[in-house]
Amino acid sequence: MGLHILFSSVISCFLVKSVLSADSGYENCRPKTCGKGPEISYPFYIRDNGTDYCGHLGFSVRCEEGWPVYKSWFADYIIEEINHGLQSFRLVDADVINSTCPAPSYNFSFARSSVYFAPNHAYIYFFYHCNDSFSANYTYSELKCNSSAMTKTFLALVPRDQDVNWSRSACEAVVAEPVQLDTWDVNQTIANLDYMKFLKSGFTLKWIGGGYDCANCKNSGGFCGFIDESNVCYCPDGPHSKHCHDGKACLDHVIACS
Ligand SMILES: *[C@@H]1O[C@H](CO)[C@@H](O)[C@H](O)[C@H]1NC(C)=O
Ligand SMILES: *[C@@H]1O[C@H](CO)[C@@H](O)[C@H](O)[C@H]1NC(C)=O
Ligand SMILES: *[C@@H]1O[C@H](CO)[C@@H](O)[C@H](O)[C@H]1NC(C)=O
Ligand SMILES: *[C@@H]1O[C@H](CO)[C@@H](O)[C@H](O)[C@H]1NC(C)=O
Ligand SMILES: *[C@@H]1O[C@H](CO)[C@@H](O)[C@H](O)[C@H]1NC(C)=O
Ligand SMILES: *[C@@H]1O[C@H](CO)[C@@H](O)[C@H](O)[C@H]1NC(C)=O
Ligand SMILES: *[C@@H]1O[C@H](CO)[C@@H](O)[C@H](O)[C@H]1NC(C)=O
Ligand SMILES: *[C@@H]1O[C@H](CO)[C@@H](O)[C@H](O)[C@H]1NC(C)=O
Repeated sequence: MGLHILFSSVISCFLVKSVLSADSGYENCRPKTCGKGPEISYPFYIRDNGTDYCGHLGFSVRCEEGWPVYKSWFADYIIEEINHGLQSFRLVDADVINSTCPAPSYNFSFARSSVYFAPNHAYIYFFYHCNDSFSANYTYSELKCNSSAMTKTFLALVPRDQDVNWSRSACEAVVAEPVQLDTWDVNQTIANLDYMKFLKSGFTLKWIGGGYDCANCKNSGGFCGFIDESNVCYCPDGPHSKHCHDGKACLDHVIACS
């Protein structure tokens, strides 16, 4: 008997807590900004603010100095733009954005699945600390501001997914920085590209929809998010499954069906 009372009060505490957080989802999953930059909303969410259930794993954003930051393994990228219609977003390397001599130290890495490059991406390769024996099978130029009397930095524009044949013993490090070109022109090289502009415009990634029609929810006045692993539409009167005019979400063990 005593055990039964204890057990059911644990259950009801859990239920109360879940229902409370489900109801505040409408406030918490409202689009937000970090101060500057685009609004952050599903599938993105602001990390460490108790709103992890407002977006997909892998779309966490940190606010740093007022900017939304997308973290790759080693490097930080500022989110400059999010286009929900095209399911795309544009990133600029934080080491490059305001630098007079952009010299990224890390490769971009797809630590997270469900994103991929938009068409017409390319790479600007940075070959660091090279000596005069350097050569490569793409046109290259020297980044004078990152060179010294002893070692030079060279840049090359390389089309997406192409390998580079370069004299590996000539340099100490190489970093491939993604850029987004408008079109791919076979005659485009680092020598005739305004590469500073392209580096500072960054690159565009696209995301694969998770199968949930968030626009349907947004158009009905709701904000998308999750309860447990299930997508829901957070509405003023609580979570619904698809949009604010359909039946209230009833999810096993979280919200009882009414
Ligand atoms: C994060 O949460 C705190 C406290 O709840 C709030 O004051 C702050 O505005 C939130 N930050 C963002 C970027 O939503
Ligand atoms: C870059 O510089 C501009 C102008 O000084 C500033 O407003 C902005 O916050 C800087 N961006 C970052 C990511 O530091
Ligand atoms: C060139 O850039 C690299 C990578 O950011 C940096 O480690 C190095 O100190 C820079 N070299 C010079 C001469 O500025
Ligand atoms: C790379 O370039 C070197 C020197 O030009 C050449 O000997 C070598 O065969 C090339 N390697 C490949 C894989 O193309
Ligand atoms: C450069 O060399 C790499 C490796 O051999 C090769 O895959 C690539 O097609 C070459 N590119 C050009 C423009 O020659
Ligand atoms: C410099 O050049 C020589 C060949 O001339 C090479 O053996 C050496 O490893 C090169 N690289 C560096 C980083 O010093
Ligand atoms: C960056 O990527 C290039 C091309 O894949 C690779 O050759 C290079 O070793 C990588 N550099 C670092 C620092 O991981
Ligand atoms: C590329 O350059 C070659 C030689 O200069 C020229 O004949 C060709 O038309 C150019 N191609 C494009 C697409 O501009």
